[in-house]
Amino acid sequence: MNGIPATLIPGDGIGPEITDATLLVLEALGAPFQWERRLAGMAAVQSHGHPLPVETLESIRRTRLALKGPLTTPVGGGYRSVNVHLRTEFRLYANVRPARTLLSGGRYEGVDIVLVRENTEGFYVGFEHYIPMGDDPRAAAVSSGIITREGCRRVAEFAFDYALKHGRRKLTIVHKANILKALTGLFLETVREVGAKYQGQIQIEDRIIDACAMQLVLDPSRFDVILTTNLFGDILSDLIAGLVGGLGLAPGANIGREAAIFEAVHGSAPDIAGQGIANPTALMLAGAMMLEHVGRDDLAERLRGAIEATIVEDGVRTPDLGGHATTGAFAQAVIRRLA
Ligand code: NAI
Ligand code: MG
Repeated sequence: MNGIPATLIPGDGIGPEITDATLLVLEALGAPFQWERRLAGMAAVQSHGHPLPVETLESIRRTRLALKGPLTTPVGGGYRSVNVHLRTEFRLYANVRPARTLLSGGRYEGVDIVLVRENTEGFYVGFEHYIPMGDDPRAAAVSSGIITREGCRRVAEFAFDYALKHGRRKLTIVHKANILKALTGLFLETVREVGAKYQGQIQIEDRIIDACAMQLVLDPSRFDVILTTNLFGDILSDLIAGLVGGLGLAPGANIGREAAIFEAVHGSAPDIAGQGIANPTALMLAGAMMLEHVGRDDLAERLRGAIEATIVEDGVRTPDLGGHATTGAFAQAVIRRLA
């Protein structure tokens, strides 16, 4: 099988441990990736003096595809977040986070939500400043959000196409257009326009963010695909991860015109790094999303099935899920399920 070039960034903290586990599983699965291993984060600061070396950027520019472990954002030193840098560099405008109940007996059954977050606009453009008054240099603070029709359109088209391709039936537009009339009103209006093309295929509804937050907690099973702006999406994506058992199980994808980067939602977990007990499931599921992205839905399905059987039927679980399995033992158990 011809390999698909893809950049691999093991990352910091538990990153290398969960990356090793994920690579073993992808290899056993026969995933078609041909990896270019590159550094980013603290690992890159130590070797290259910069958290996002040119070689890493060049590799992603070439492969347009990356699997990324969590990166520790260096505190101080004037570095901007590598994740934000990657997002702007490759214009990764859609952040996709699926959340599905894996282990029953938790707080909610039957959750199966995909959240699509606009990833580049809104309040995260960083247009902020202070206004001095009297002898207080920071007497007031101003933050402006920016939303463009074009930005709304491309993320909406992505979300509707994703919904169709994945057999989803309903898309909920989440906004605050009753108060932020221009900023999120333009989002609502544009997404509805795009949605008109999908009439009869996907049901469209909209919710105000605060009502949506309540309904997600009362009955998450009523949601299917959620499409929302940057800030609301940041908050809701952690909320939906919490509905289904937390960070160890939550994958994410950052999709753009120039590249697609797949990752676990969680960070580098310095508190458990090096102990061999991190849960590699989120990164493995990110690998499954990556397989789908390159058209190998068959392999993605097999991988998801093996992970689910390992956790649910075999009861092989890492400590964050109440088990005793090490990262490596979990990977071997998934591989046995693939055989
Ligand atoms: P975190 O997600 O690393 O950890 C939060 C808690 O969840 C910790 O108790 C950790 O042990 C646990 N946890 C996370 N992933 C786990 C896994 N796979 N298995 C078992 N337990 C797991 O968040 P925190 O501590 O706020 O951030 C640590 C570092 O990670 C920071 O430098 C932060 O900037 C960075 N970070 C990077 C992200 C990325 O690269 N995408 C995302 C979030 C944080
Ligand atoms: Mg966040």
